Amino acid sequence: MLVRDATPDDVADIGRIYNEGIADRIATLEEDPKDAEDMAAWWAEHAGRYAVLVAETGPGVVVGWASLNRYENACSMAGIADLSVYVGRTARGTGVGAALLTALERRAKTNAFRKIILFALTKNERALGLYVKFGYREIGVFREHGAVDGKYEDVIAMEKLLQPA
Ligand SMILES: CC(C)(COP(=O)(O)OP(=O)(O)OC[C@H]1O[C@@H](n2cnc3c(N)ncnc32)[C@H](O)[C@@H]1OP(=O)(O)O)[C@@H](O)C(=O)NCCC(=O)NCCS
Repeated sequence: MLVRDATPDDVADIGRIYNEGIADRIATLEEDPKDAEDMAAWWAEHAGRYAVLVAETGPGVVVGWASLNRYENACSMAGIADLSVYVGRTARGTGVGAALLTALERRAKTNAFRKIILFALTKNERALGLYVKFGYREIGVFREHGAVDGKYEDVIAMEKLLQPA
């Protein structure tokens, strides 16, 4: 498996994998699939330090992606990035998420971030397993933080301080 920087040509695959996570009702409080316009806006937000990586199992076979997202605009918090990681349905549980997270943390340090934060549904056991394995610390749980299909979900906040590169 190869983890590399995403290019504009990958945005359709990123959107497809993102939409699987949305449809599975496990990854996010989002309910509606992202269309090409949504994904173009998302891509535009990920310039510079806010890296997007993809994992591929063969030339052009993208099976997952991870991104560093803007957390706050305040200068004092410029060292913090929010994290996303999505693996396509058929590739989950095969080490793709771990490979992406390893590479993304390395990139975060290179791009002068000192902390990664994330938010996950508390019922997302696979994601929590990944984050705990990588040393993310629980901050706390937002109770009934958003309603998906009319049902309120709890959301856990986690953080990891990165060792300097
Ligand atoms: C969550 C997700 C990114 C994890 O990636 P993955 O490729 O499936 O996970 P990996 O195979 O790399 O496993 C890495 C670690 O995660 C944990 N893990 C994996 N599957 C697990 C499961 N079913 N239950 C608990 N922990 C699990 C383990 O610690 C595992 O390490 P190990 O294999 O040494 O035990 C992936 O399943 C996914 O994209 N799911 C849908 C979208 C999503 O939920 N994204 C996260 C939003 S917060």
